[in-house]
Amino acid sequence: MKLKPTLIILAGFACVVGLALAVATHGQAADFDLNKVKVGDGVPKSLTGKPGDPKQGRKAAINRKRGNCLACHILPVPEQADHGNIGPSLSDVASRMSEAEIRLRLIDPKVSNPDTIMPSFYKKTGFHRVQKKWQGKTILKAQDIEDIVAYLLTLKE
Ligand code: HEC
Repeated sequence: MKLKPTLIILAGFACVVGLALAVATHGQAADFDLNKVKVGDGVPKSLTGKPGDPKQGRKAAINRKRGNCLACHILPVPEQADHGNIGPSLSDVASRMSEAEIRLRLIDPKVSNPDTIMPSFYKKTGFHRVQKKWQGKTILKAQDIEDIVAYLLTLKE
């Protein structure tokens, strides 16, 4: 049984690596696979399994450090000035798009337009030159995506 100490060390090492990986990917779309949830032009099912909260979604959408949608879109948010117009106004987005389409657009707008400048808010692979603090992370959490979807669905003309 000459190999035993080596084996124990190896097993211990594997545990530490496994634990580190589990911690590093916790809550960060570790097992998310867009191909498994995408149906046609949309993602019909909630990423969290529950409907989002439109009030929280409004907050996340207009927060400059989170969704920052106002950088490129007009939203019915009078308390903030300087809405961008690089993207279309979202004031009536629910009249144009379904829930599933909106969800897919937030997860990864490059699916419908590979050249878009809109960020992929729920994607963590396939990027180039990612800053260290963002590596392996999505810009928004699944809960934020669902809250923003719920908020956008209230925006009808
Ligand atoms: C850096 C600019 C930018 C940011 C930030 C951005 N978008 Fe966009 N978005 C765009 C552009 C440009 C388009 C137009 C379509 C395209 O480029 O594919 C678009 C399209 C969309 C559409 C489709 C609208 C339609 O009528 O076709 C939705 C929905 C949308 N964005 C939601 C959001 C939300 C919600 C946020 C914040 C969480 C956000 N976007 C942040 C640039 C941006």
